[in-house]
Amino acid sequence: MTTATTGRTALRGVVGTAHTRVEGRDKVTGAARYAGEIPFAGLAHGWLALSTVARGRIRSLGTESVLGMPGVLAVLHHGNAPRVDTHYIGALGFPPDPTAALFQQDRVHHVGWPVALVVAETPEQAREAAEALVVEYDVEPHDTRLTAGHPGAHPADGVLPAVTGKGDLTAGLAASAVVVDEEYTTPEEHHSMMEPHAATALWDGGRLEVVDSNQGTTWVQSELAKMFSLDESAVRVRSEHIGGGFGSKGLRAHQVAAVMAATELQRPVRVVMTRRQMFSLAGYRSPTTQRVRLGADADGRLRALEHRALSQTSTVHEFVEPSAGVARVMYDAGAHHTANHVVPLDVPSPTFMRAPGEAPGSFAIESALDELAERCGIDPVELRLRNEPAAGPVSGLPFSSRNLDACFREGARRFGWAGRDPRPGTRRDGRWLLGTGTAAASFHAGAGPSTAAVTAEADGGFTVRISAADLGTGARTALTLVAADALEVAPDRVRVRIGDSDFGPATIAGGSMGTRSWAWAVTEAGRELRERLAPGTAIPPEGITVRSDTTALVGALAQKERHSFGAQFAEVAVDTATGEVRVRRMLGIFAAGRIVNPLTARNQLVGGMVWGISMALHEEAVRDRASGGLYAPDLAGYHVATNADVGDIRADWVDDPDPDDPVGIKGVGEIGIVGAAAAVANAVAHATGVRHRHLPIRPDRVLSAAAARTGAAGA
Ligand code: MOS
Repeated sequence: MTTATTGRTALRGVVGTAHTRVEGRDKVTGAARYAGEIPFAGLAHGWLALSTVARGRIRSLGTESVLGMPGVLAVLHHGNAPRVDTHYIGALGFPPDPTAALFQQDRVHHVGWPVALVVAETPEQAREAAEALVVEYDVEPHDTRLTAGHPGAHPADGVLPAVTGKGDLTAGLAASAVVVDEEYTTPEEHHSMMEPHAATALWDGGRLEVVDSNQGTTWVQSELAKMFSLDESAVRVRSEHIGGGFGSKGLRAHQVAAVMAATELQRPVRVVMTRRQMFSLAGYRSPTTQRVRLGADADGRLRALEHRALSQTSTVHEFVEPSAGVARVMYDAGAHHTANHVVPLDVPSPTFMRAPGEAPGSFAIESALDELAERCGIDPVELRLRNEPAAGPVSGLPFSSRNLDACFREGARRFGWAGRDPRPGTRRDGRWLLGTGTAAASFHAGAGPSTAAVTAEADGGFTVRISAADLGTGARTALTLVAADALEVAPDRVRVRIGDSDFGPATIAGGSMGTRSWAWAVTEAGRELRERLAPGTAIPPEGITVRSDTTALVGALAQKERHSFGAQFAEVAVDTATGEVRVRRMLGIFAAGRIVNPLTARNQLVGGMVWGISMALHEEAVRDRASGGLYAPDLAGYHVATNADVGDIRADWVDDPDPDDPVGIKGVGEIGIVGAAAAVANAVAHATGVRHRHLPIRPDRVLSAAAARTGAAGA
């Protein structure tokens, strides 16, 4: 028996100070194991076979010859797989994506639809057999092309209502001195996280265990329990280390495949997606086509705003990329209309991808704002400051805090925006045309209910247990600092254990809500434990544990517009002879709540900005209309920005503690990408005098735009 020594020494607190990742050593030495590399005795390996046609029916599967191949243990398909429940409503409020609810039908709904799982003793044997499996289809004509006037388009709610509207748009536009009416498009984009999806399933004493890489262990636990009609307590999901998620790592085909096979064979089965399989099984960001109409007085004040966005979904699952939602937060006007429409096509289901809605939506609206600034002859920063709303443009609710103006003022000062010549095409550096651009950013700052347990251990340490997920973001480290402050002890006395559904319900690592939601629960439990541990309190060998549940506290939050904000600045160099665009400098200044760990928060923000560069210049998955599949679905054919594409990139923040959060946190997971592509595109317009409304700004697009301009000038 030892006694409590929660020193009252660490009064200044460690939240807000830089700490390297607590698991950093484990990661660089390889001691940290990822889902696909954890050893299990008697492990079998499953390999998914995917359809090569976009639409039709499976006529036959040549399973017989495959079953005779070396090491093959089973082939699961629609004819022999267990029936599962596909009609339940999952934790996020939606039914499961049938692409993940495997082998329940003989119909094929897109190229890359899972048609069979081959299980074998080794991954090589499983792959060999899956590739040898002959599948015959009755093929039907398919439609995989998103077009602005598609007859299948309809307004659709997703996480946001489909449509909002107030005021007379036609009258507002007619009364405006300056009008912008343009169409913007963004292509299909993929999450492309480093670690592919991987799961191992096994039955252990009547309990299903799944070792996975996901954004919420209790989320995947509850989905699997519902799908397989099991009690939640009979399912345990673990996910200790994760190599990125970005919205893609929820319930997917690999976990379901592993569970089916482990049940069938009564031994552990692992299923790992290949990089190519991820391009049809892991979700993606839908392409968008967006029309923005802005009407303003000569001084730039908005009278009319319309943002209509169209995205695609699969024919079996409705996911809406809510691009038109941004203006509901960012800009007000007497006439204000927004709408999200979706078209079902014979394509894989899209899903949440970093800043769903805000990322493509901000490209359109922040480009349109830049065009408006140009036409009004007003500085783009000034135009945004003039249009700062006093309350939520659609909701009318007050903002919990809105420090966008502080971001723009600080960003403009640090970037050296003052004195910018607004005329395009006037700055040169040898063969390069130079330009600068800016854009605003916002992202929802929410909190979700979570439970946590904090234990005072007999050895003087403290253990935190919470079903949090660290996607590589540094969440584990952030929670260590938060717990240390709640307990008023040094962080090296705190051990944070996460990624295990047995720790109880918690919010997922998603919607930029993870750290805030978990920190709240950890703070509640930590503070109560500290109060309980009067100096000299005897600590028994099993420790003293305090549990928290923030459901009531989070539910009691007043209705407000709660968001992080940011100002993005970019400087580009454009070679109009080769079409090359280089981002020389980028600066993002954010108002994103209290920053728990500046080191990892800056990583997050810069990472989002790099995605913005990538979105502006590189990323594009191209669908072949004839086959319905993607050209070159791999990381050679799909370029994601790397070091060579990124110049001097900086992220910083202004003071912006959330007044309604016990730690002051908002969230930094997604806001870094918002507005980033628009800032780059606006800089390209400033450099060249040519506006690119279709992403990515590829060399061929720069060249043909320059050629069209020269042609027009010569004519
Ligand atoms: Mo994020 S798209 O909510 O993982």
